Amino acid sequence: MSMRLQGRKAVVTGAASGIGAAVAARLAADGAQVFTADIQGEVDFVADLTGTDANTRLVAKANARMGGLDIVVPCAGISTFHPLEGHDDAYFQRVLDVNLIAVFRLVREAAAHLKAHGAGRIVTIGSTTSTYGDEGLCAYSASKHAVLGLTKSIAAELGPFGVTATCVQPGAIDTPMTAPAFDQMPEYRTFWEGKAPLRRLGKPEDIADVVAFLCSEDARFVSGHGLWVDGGAMVRH
Ligand SMILES: NC(=O)c1ccc[n+]([C@@H]2O[C@H](COP(=O)([O-])OP(=O)(O)OC[C@H]3O[C@@H](n4cnc5c(N)ncnc54)[C@H](O)[C@@H]3O)[C@@H](O)[C@H]2O)c1
Repeated sequence: MSMRLQGRKAVVTGAASGIGAAVAARLAADGAQVFTADIQGEVDFVADLTGTDANTRLVAKANARMGGLDIVVPCAGISTFHPLEGHDDAYFQRVLDVNLIAVFRLVREAAAHLKAHGAGRIVTIGSTTSTYGDEGLCAYSASKHAVLGLTKSIAAELGPFGVTATCVQPGAIDTPMTAPAFDQMPEYRTFWEGKAPLRRLGKPEDIADVVAFLCSEDARFVSGHGLWVDGGAMVRH
């Protein structure tokens, strides 16, 4: 494996599980120094990232530890199915707080550091529901559409400072987030496996490898859009 991220300093949230854990491992394998955060687990910084100053503290600690910051990958997220009727206000707000507001705050706090070295990278994690909707996913889809929009505007604003911002949009990935649904509803698993022309669910590493590419020098001219990493599932949407 190449050391294409040697000398780069990264913050990855949601790093205790699933896609975030795979991203942290892949960036480290490519030579980056990685500072990990999550609400739980074996990470450098344990906090609920919806706390008003949590992302300020996270960036300060990461900067103090690594002496700079080049890469930000906010992977922390939540999702469950809630039908529109009877959808709880507090849960809707919680999804926006975790999936959107915490991402906004992290990028805002990291921006000055990312600009400082002229080659910053922000890779947000959207979803195929950043583009489409689905039953029971009002809050989740709204948050993921918003993350894609946020990413595009960040790309416009920070591009002049050499910072790229892209949004990876995973399809159905087998992680602790989705495992309960796939286990309880085998037909749901079969549906997603069949929908993808590559005929399988994704693995966290399928996403992590693309994130690492987007963080690398090879992706220096890629910015301001979403990229489906879904085994081709959305060609049939
Ligand atoms: N798994 C999929 O099919 C899929 C598809 C599209 C997008 N995504 C997105 O990928 C990202 C990672 O999801 P995953 O599937 O790896 O799920 P996961 O549940 O395995 O990991 C999510 C991590 O986020 C952390 N987290 C949740 N709330 C937090 C908070 N308030 N503060 C700090 N950390 C918090 C959790 O503790 C967990 O470690 C999420 O943004 C998710 O929406 C996942």
